[in-house]
Amino acid sequence: MARSKKPRPPIDVELGQFCFTGQVEGHTETRRVLAWGGLPGEHVLVRERKRKRGTSIGVVEEIFRPSPDRVPPLEDHYICSSPWQVLNPERENEIKHDLVRDWFSQEHGIELPDFEVVGDVRVGYRNKLEFGFANTDEGVSLSFFERGGPGRRMPLESCCLGQNEINEAAQKIVKRCRAAGYESRSLKSLMLRSNQAGEVLAGLYVRDELPPPFTSLDDLEPLVGFRMYLSNPKSPASVVDRVIQDLGLAEIDEYLHGHRFSMTDRSFFQVNIPMFETALSAIRPHVLPDRPVYDLYAGVGTIGINLGVAGTHFVEIEPECTRQLELNCQRNGLEAPQIITSPAEKAIPEFCRDATLIVDPPRVGLHPKVVKALAESGPDRVIYLSCNPDTQARDLSILMPGYTLTDFQAFNFFPRTPHLETLSILDRKACTASAIEVSHGNSSDLNPQD
Ligand SMILES: C[S@@+](CC[C@H](N)C(=O)[O-])C[C@H]1O[C@@H](n2cnc3c(N)ncnc32)[C@H](O)[C@@H]1O
Repeated sequence: MARSKKPRPPIDVELGQFCFTGQVEGHTETRRVLAWGGLPGEHVLVRERKRKRGTSIGVVEEIFRPSPDRVPPLEDHYICSSPWQVLNPERENEIKHDLVRDWFSQEHGIELPDFEVVGDVRVGYRNKLEFGFANTDEGVSLSFFERGGPGRRMPLESCCLGQNEINEAAQKIVKRCRAAGYESRSLKSLMLRSNQAGEVLAGLYVRDELPPPFTSLDDLEPLVGFRMYLSNPKSPASVVDRVIQDLGLAEIDEYLHGHRFSMTDRSFFQVNIPMFETALSAIRPHVLPDRPVYDLYAGVGTIGINLGVAGTHFVEIEPECTRQLELNCQRNGLEAPQIITSPAEKAIPEFCRDATLIVDPPRVGLHPKVVKALAESGPDRVIYLSCNPDTQARDLSILMPGYTLTDFQAFNFFPRTPHLETLSILDRKACTASAIEVSHGNSSDLNPQD
């Protein structure tokens, strides 16, 4: 019989500063320690969850000397979803600001112009949550993965980052799953999405052919649409093999600055709507007037459609998104959109030189082929919105020889977590002066390079 490994004793460590990745760093005589749930200046015990080349990554288990910035967490499972719940919310934007400024400078040699991190530090902002499942004495329960652990699941009832309606719908669905006698091994995930009107769509991904947990949406408000999907048991991802059940609405609407967008439980949509509207307002003045617009990594078209420029070129990889994008263009009266369903790296448009290009890639950042194409023949202005400043800084450092970073802004899309959204405005060097002139309203001026 295999002997179980004796757990290592917790690590006694004085914590230094926050790392860019959200943990706080400390050092013992022999190891570097990255602690989730710790704050700078604290003396703590850290329970190691992972070891990587001289670094122990773990979770704070006991605090001998707390930071004056420490506040009680709102949830027991806060480390799984929002490890900065223990940080005084008043300090969050300032700390994110310094981390971003220093990371760009120290890791990528980019000195950012003055900027602030804007946004209320609050909970209840997410319009999307994805839960896993765990077994408990009461039956099946929602769960999140324990952070940094070996895939262990932590049972929970709700997540305070989500809108109330999502949590309410999730609890009602779980209650029905319990009543149906489901076990967690047959269930993969529950994906929920809501709008600001409080309607909720849910997708339940199951590994086994199960009878649906309900046959009507009666008494399940605020749930307005429910899909049960059979999902490949060998894949950890929530992929759809077959729709087992389809109840109620397939789509709900969301409004961004008065534009109507439809979304399904599976298409991409920004998770913090008020903050996204703030970012859209920040993007608008940087769009070169009366010039073509390209929107790469377009999702369901929220940015391009809000800008409302006829003939906008959209490129998006997911057919589910481009189907919605087409509908969204029609509903909002966008004229002559050019929509391409493809990976951006395989459908790089031939940019008109005087165009505005908007890129809003996923966390991995721009594909190297896209960066290369932009460096060689990108348009006059690139507006780069990013949910991962690290990959944005990497891409900018390659683009910067040919471009000038003329503006930088940061938005706290993801309060109580280490994440944030950043916006970089880049102008091609040879034409920086003319491009800025154009964007300030002198639209009849032609680019001197024409
Ligand atoms: C951060 S989202 C932005 C979506 C949109 N701009 C918005 O704000 O709603 C990134 C989008 O890029 C898409 N995507 C991911 N990889 C891609 C690729 N290689 N080429 C094109 N689109 C991609 C995703 O499906 C997703 O819709």
